[in-house]
Amino acid sequence: MSSLATFFASLYDRAHTLEQEGRFKGNEENKMWRQIGPKNKLSIQPCRRVYSSAGKLCDIALYCVHGKFYAIDARCPHLGGPLDVIVDLEELTEMPVPHAMCPWHLFAYNLTNGSSPQGLKVDTHPVKVQNGNVYVLHETELSLQAYETDI
Ligand code: FES
Repeated sequence: MSSLATFFASLYDRAHTLEQEGRFKGNEENKMWRQIGPKNKLSIQPCRRVYSSAGKLCDIALYCVHGKFYAIDARCPHLGGPLDVIVDLEELTEMPVPHAMCPWHLFAYNLTNGSSPQGLKVDTHPVKVQNGNVYVLHETELSLQAYETDI
């Protein structure tokens, strides 16, 4: 593919991404508490991806640090790196406020409010634990299993 064709393909992809995001993100009417799974199971792993029925652009990263749960978008607002991986366990667990770190350019995001020292902000989602289960307030259905469209 020529570099010009590649450029236009990337523009199309970006426009499609923004359109897809706009359709789901911030749609307050669709926000509901989504049951993710049992607290005992989810607290074993400090970070995991939770899949959205709207596709990977709406997936979230669910963190569990010192028994407390946090949910943020799984896509870094810088250039789209994954926020559901642990780059620096110390940064995550030993800072006064836990931070997720993007593996691509090492921007750190405060898990409580989504802010970063670079001035970017990732969306955070309220989490609650009720009757031994973890719930996330979100616009789309969420699952620990990938949806077929994601595979
Ligand atoms: S893509 Fe995440 S810091 Fe650059």
